[in-house]
Amino acid sequence: MNALSSLCIFRSDPLALNDILVIKPPKKSPLLLRMSVLIFSMVCGVFICSVCSKQISTHARTMLMELQNEKPSRNRLGLTDVPLLHYPNPVSFNRSECAGNPVRFFAILSNQRSGSGWFETLLNSHINVSSNGEIFSVRERRVNVSTIVQTLDKVYNLDWFSSASKNECSAAIGLKWMLNQGLMEHPKEVADYFNRRGVSVIFLFRRNLLRRMVSVLANSYDRYAKLLNGAHKSHVHSTEEADTLSKYKPIINSTSLLVDLKDMEMRMAKALEYFSINRHMILYYEDLIRNRTKLKDVQDFLGLPQMELRSRQIKIHRGTLSDHIKNWDDVNKTLHGTAYECFLQTDYSS
Ligand SMILES: *[C@@H]1O[C@H](CO)[C@@H](O)[C@H](O)[C@H]1NC(C)=O
Ligand SMILES: *[C@@H]1O[C@H](CO)[C@@H](O)[C@H](O)[C@H]1NC(C)=O
Ligand SMILES: *[C@@H]1O[C@H](CO)[C@@H](O)[C@H](O)[C@H]1NC(C)=O
Ligand SMILES: *[C@@H]1O[C@H](CO)[C@@H](O)[C@H](O)[C@H]1NC(C)=O
Ligand SMILES: *[C@@H]1O[C@H](CO)[C@@H](O)[C@H](O)[C@H]1NC(C)=O
Ligand SMILES: *[C@@H]1O[C@H](CO)[C@@H](O)[C@H](O)[C@H]1NC(C)=O
Repeated sequence: MNALSSLCIFRSDPLALNDILVIKPPKKSPLLLRMSVLIFSMVCGVFICSVCSKQISTHARTMLMELQNEKPSRNRLGLTDVPLLHYPNPVSFNRSECAGNPVRFFAILSNQRSGSGWFETLLNSHINVSSNGEIFSVRERRVNVSTIVQTLDKVYNLDWFSSASKNECSAAIGLKWMLNQGLMEHPKEVADYFNRRGVSVIFLFRRNLLRRMVSVLANSYDRYAKLLNGAHKSHVHSTEEADTLSKYKPIINSTSLLVDLKDMEMRMAKALEYFSINRHMILYYEDLIRNRTKLKDVQDFLGLPQMELRSRQIKIHRGTLSDHIKNWDDVNKTLHGTAYECFLQTDYSS
């Protein structure tokens, strides 16, 4: 327990995960086992949160580690026969010249401020990819399972139009879906839909959740402050704009920091738990930044012809994290000696 809980699984070292001793579940019926681990840790979280918070974290971590170590394309129900190639028949236009080209379905599951906007611009720079953005940010589309299914059907039938649509010649069609946009309220139904329709899942997470927190706070501050010539921007295209936005240093609530980090981690663990029954790959923002080969993996995963993918977006908070947090000493002290200590360190260059 102590060894596990003091480990930094989010270390930048790509080998770190393999170095860690992972408690493997029995080979058979892992879903049941994991669900009971999950339920146990949730019950634990509700009733004795303050007492066993270290254990909750350990459970979340154990689950994260197990799931991360899985082979990307395997799924635990053994449903390997789900057809991945589709030939949609849109009602709103004619696929004409590309009617014979197969289409793959995908969904990017992510959290706000985890690089998914950037990742989506990269994907959409491919001539055959239509990733339609955060369709479920609109509440009416996610009020119940029927509206969710209707919306997804429209997307995967190629009848959804956004600035990203490639229409006729889309070879991969999908959307970006944030965990807090109805996804975690209907996990079973959505996972079933994905399996039934042959939708592949791309998890996009951020390893350094403290950095994510800084980005969330700064972004929500800018909603009101509108630092760039009176306009609120969540993404920028120049270093000047990035510098302006990153001048604001948020104060992080150090009282709730540990609990907040655990909550974020738990949410990721739950998402992995629910949707790794689907064909999936797990991507980390930090890895994408450091290693562009990951984009080749993504194109392989989606069965696309390889292309050089581009985005004009620029990272906002660059450099040492201590420069971006107002109450750094507090935060440093709070995380020092905890499982999250690694978040304090700079985890990638630039
Ligand atoms: C779509 O294209 C096919 C083949 O080119 C053609 O036979 C069909 O009439 C077209 N349908 C519409 C609605 O334009
Ligand atoms: C889902 O919501 C829609 C729109 O609010 C409504 O018309 C429909 O009856 C609801 N369906 C179910 C099964 O609740
Ligand atoms: C990709 O798009 C191009 C241009 O629209 C088209 O010619 C090509 O057939 C498409 N490739 C696939 C695999 O659909
Ligand atoms: C910080 O978190 C604590 C515990 O959740 C809460 O009681 C307090 O109001 C928060 N402080 C601020 C400034 O939000
Ligand atoms: C970059 O990513 C590729 C594909 O995932 C991997 O094989 C390679 O080892 C990575 N390189 C580094 C330096 O991490
Ligand atoms: C964080 O705190 C530790 C111990 O209190 C100290 O050694 C370290 O220099 C601090 N790190 C930064 C970047 O301030």
